[in-house]
Amino acid sequence: IKKIGVLTSGGDAPGMNAAIRAVVRTALSYGWEVVGVIDGYAGLHAGNFIQLTRRSVSDLLNRGGTFLGTARFPQFKDPKVREEAVEVMKQNGIDALVVIGGDGSYMGAKFISELGFPCIGLPGTIDNDIAGTDATIGFDTALNTAVEAIDKLRDTCSSHKRISVVEVMGHHCGDLAVCAAVSCGVEAVLVPEVKWDKDEIYASIKRSVDAGKRHAILVVCELQTDVHQMAKDLEALTGLEARATVQGHIQRGGTPSAVDRVLASRMGAYACELLKSGESGRCVALKRGELVHYDIIECINSMKHRFMKTTYDLACSLG
Ligand code: F6P
Repeated sequence: IKKIGVLTSGGDAPGMNAAIRAVVRTALSYGWEVVGVIDGYAGLHAGNFIQLTRRSVSDLLNRGGTFLGTARFPQFKDPKVREEAVEVMKQNGIDALVVIGGDGSYMGAKFISELGFPCIGLPGTIDNDIAGTDATIGFDTALNTAVEAIDKLRDTCSSHKRISVVEVMGHHCGDLAVCAAVSCGVEAVLVPEVKWDKDEIYASIKRSVDAGKRHAILVVCELQTDVHQMAKDLEALTGLEARATVQGHIQRGGTPSAVDRVLASRMGAYACELLKSGESGRCVALKRGELVHYDIIECINSMKHRFMKTTYDLACSLG
C-alpha cells in the first residue's frame, strides 16, 4: 500500500473526526499517503479528494461532526456508479479505503469490497445499530446529550407537575432510548424491538398519576408514534399537563465524549493495522473491550445487531 483514502458517510456522529485523525496519523507513520474524500460516496464518485497531512488533522479530536463532510448517496446502489467510483480511486493511485459510517455506509463498503478493492469499515453512528459491535462511534456522546436533555426536562416537569414525552433518535434501533431510560429513571420506554400497547402504557401512567405521582417522563424512540399526539392523549386522560419534546439532530452534534474519542482513536488506528497486515473487506467492532474484525459482506448479509434486552428489562423494572 502506498496511498489510502478515508471517508465519512451517512449521518455524522461525534467522534468521526477523532477516527479520521487516527487513520491519518497511523497511515502516515507507515509511510503511506492519505487523501480525505469530501462528502462521502458522492465525493468518491466525483473524485473529490484532499491530501491529508499530520497538520490537517490537528485540533479536530474534540470537534463534533466530520470535517470531511458527509452525505447520503443513494446512487451508489447502482453497480455502474460503484464501478466508476472504484475506477476513480485507481486512477488517483488510491490502494485502499477506510469508510466511517453507519449501516448504509457499510453497504457501500461491502459493494466496494465485492469489487475486490481493499476496504475497511468503522462503525460511526449515534444509533448503535451495527451488527457485531458492542458500541459505535458517537453513541456514547449522543446518549449523554439525550440524558442531559431529559434531566433538564425532569426539573421543569416536576416543578410544573407535567408529563413529558421525549422522542430520541435511533432510527430502527432502541439502544439510545433504552440507555437514556435507564440513565434517567423514566416511567416508560417505547422501542421498535419490543411490541408495545398504547392503551397499556396510558393505563399505567394514569394509575401512577391517580396514586399521587406528580410528574412522568416517557422516552420514545423515533418512528414509533406521534409524540405530540401522545402528549395530548395523556393530558386528556390524566388531567396533568403534558408536553412533547423531539430531541432531533441536537443528539448528533456536540463535542465527542472521552469514551467516543478513545473508541474512535483505537478503531482508526486498528483499521490501518488491518490494511497493513493485508486484510481487506473487513469491518471493525468492539467486543468485550477488545477490537475485533469481521467480514464486511457477512456482517451486512447475515449478522444482526443484538438488542439490549436485559437493559430494556431493567428500564422497565426500575422505572
Ligand atoms: O443514523 C443517524 C440518524 O440520526 C438516525 O438516528 C435518524 O433516523 C437519521 O439519522 C436522520 O437522518 P437525517 O439527518 O438525514 O434526517
